[in-house]
Amino acid sequence: MSAERWRGAGHTGDADPALDDLVRRVRESAKYAQVTPSLIRRIGARELAAHRTAREAVKATQRRLHQVGAAYLEGRIRYDEWLERLTAAHAEGPEAFRQACRQMMRLHASTRERLPIVGRLFQETLAPLAPVRSVIDVACGLGPLAIPWMPLAPGATYHAYDIYEDLAEFLNAFLPLAGVDGHAEARDVAGDPPVEPADLALVLKYVPNAEQLAGGLALHLLDSLNARHLLVSYPAAALGGRDKGMAETYERAFLEMVSDRPWQITPHRYPEELAFLIAK
Ligand SMILES: C[S@@+](CC[C@H](N)C(=O)[O-])C[C@H]1O[C@@H](n2cnc3c(N)ncnc32)[C@H](O)[C@@H]1O
Repeated sequence: MSAERWRGAGHTGDADPALDDLVRRVRESAKYAQVTPSLIRRIGARELAAHRTAREAVKATQRRLHQVGAAYLEGRIRYDEWLERLTAAHAEGPEAFRQACRQMMRLHASTRERLPIVGRLFQETLAPLAPVRSVIDVACGLGPLAIPWMPLAPGATYHAYDIYEDLAEFLNAFLPLAGVDGHAEARDVAGDPPVEPADLALVLKYVPNAEQLAGGLALHLLDSLNARHLLVSYPAAALGGRDKGMAETYERAFLEMVSDRPWQITPHRYPEELAFLIAK
């Protein structure tokens, strides 16, 4: 499916009882109950066209949602308990708060893999822009828990997006604790890229995920983001393992994808993650 068709999928404005029913059935599963309906509609519209029965389309939509989101999570996160823990740690002081943030980042595969380099990654890649006054974090996962390691200006704004409603609600309580003027929202960033201006947009380990949905979606997202700088990264290993060739393959694919954009690109290569700072 083309990026164009993906963005229109499931959003024709016409009544579509089959699609409404699919969204309801997908969300009946506790694992997908918190996923923003707009993403379920886009995936569901394609799966309804590709399968003979509604039941098959529901299953196929759930499989796709597993790949793009649930696969990174160990299980359901008790956000209320974590918020209490973080609030108590915050009251104890900055070191206890960082420690609690580190512990919570272990619950999402993507932030867990980053833990060994969390300080270096943000300090080194963002050094030319520090202090950063405004950030958009797309497909954020638990990425905002790394705010204590980011070189942000006092009172910086931070807008975070992922597909889960409960994650957004948690982040809306967490961001003030982290000392930023923040806002989080459940949104399909591939279909509806954020448009607010910012110094920096973080697109961390999301490009391969977007390209799985439809070719061209990732570049459309990078083009759309209204930020002077983008920090785009890729995993250096597949979920659950190391793979020497993967980072090189991603680097080639990324440079090919942006080859006709007049952007200045600085690579930063770590064993855990491959990052590119882009000046648009
Ligand atoms: C590999 S993880 C990266 C998370 C985070 N950026 C990081 O680097 O730690 C991919 C994230 O993208 C989110 N995601 C997947 N599809 C999305 C979409 N269409 N819109 C917004 N977020 C999405 C998933 O829920 C997941 O948290």
